[in-house]
Amino acid sequence: MKINALNEEKSVSNADVNGKRVLLRCDFNVPFFDDGTISDTRRIDESLETIKFLIRKNARVIVCSHLGRPSGKFVKELTLAPVAAYLSKVLGVQVKLSQDVAGEDSRFLASALEDGQICMIENLRFELGEEQNDREFSQQLASLAEVYVNDAFGTCHRKHASLVGVLEFLPGFYGFLIEKEVMGMSKILDEPKRPFISILGGKKVSDKIEAIEGILQCVDVLMIGGGMTYTFINSLGHNVGDSICEYEKLRLAKDILLYAKEIGVKLMLPLDVRAGREYSPETESKIFSTSEIPSGWQGLDIGPETTKIYAQEIEKAGTVVWNGPLGVSEWKNFSEGTFELARAIARSDANSIIGGGDSAEAVKRLGLSGKMTHISTGGGSSLMFLSKAQMPGISAVMGSIRSI
Ligand code: 3PG
Repeated sequence: MKINALNEEKSVSNADVNGKRVLLRCDFNVPFFDDGTISDTRRIDESLETIKFLIRKNARVIVCSHLGRPSGKFVKELTLAPVAAYLSKVLGVQVKLSQDVAGEDSRFLASALEDGQICMIENLRFELGEEQNDREFSQQLASLAEVYVNDAFGTCHRKHASLVGVLEFLPGFYGFLIEKEVMGMSKILDEPKRPFISILGGKKVSDKIEAIEGILQCVDVLMIGGGMTYTFINSLGHNVGDSICEYEKLRLAKDILLYAKEIGVKLMLPLDVRAGREYSPETESKIFSTSEIPSGWQGLDIGPETTKIYAQEIEKAGTVVWNGPLGVSEWKNFSEGTFELARAIARSDANSIIGGGDSAEAVKRLGLSGKMTHISTGGGSSLMFLSKAQMPGISAVMGSIRSI
């Protein structure tokens, strides 16, 4: 069987959930405006198909998710209360939220559910055991339910208790969002049309580093942009001024450049950047060659020459997978590179996969969503899928052996 392939027997549509308590793992790690309202509800909206299906089938649904990285302690700003409120609104029923993660209050809410009712438990990452895939915590979580359904595609690259550990104790199934993501991406990636281009943006090399080696083995061209650029540029011995740079990753960046060369992948780095005086939307801006960014300036977008060259390359592509903005795309003065590349992907005949909230948001803002082949709810997880590495959340469900 192919890595990350789905076995239909494990689809939620084949689970007998009638009258049963179902622990549904979603990825509701959504962004917020400063006033605390959700700025992009797509991850929640995309989970509704599975939630509504379970409700229709008379399951007693206990929804769980993480939000942010609270590192095992309660953080007021990372409560799932706004998500529960949004779910209540779109489902037209009250979705109660427990005050703890898998403790007394969660057990109380779960046991009070009647057929076809739904509740939520608090942010899984308020408990240290979640990220540690701790056995005791997994068992505690599993004890809330009789059946487990994973629909958290965006987190399937993490080996956490709610994605892996719980499957020692519960029969497991995957939901419709996981099905849509895996099928949608497999259709494009199993035999990708060539040339195959991956565009990687975003802030840090360290966020994507694990996937880069695998990605290089699949693609013909890898284009780098965003904050990651400066670690690569600095690893070549150039001054990057005040740009973001992960100095402890310079060796790694150098190795990636060498590896790409060795296996014949064209790795493209920006030739010019639009830099700002400060990290601020209204700051003075200026174009510099990437190898000559003076101190007092920081790169905040790819420059016009790079945008042109990248766009020309994209127009010849058979497949494009794009993950992460090329600059600070939420700021008008530093969004041009990101927006231009989104337009180039839309103009091309390439099959396209867009991953990561910011890239998807840029495409949506330009009204180009309909021009993309697949827009994933996953950032890191879609990269892991692309790199053909085994995803813990998917293999745990596929390998689960408990029966209902
Ligand atoms: C994401 O937003 O990529 C997922 O929700 C996973 O979050 P994490 O990177 O904090 O594990």
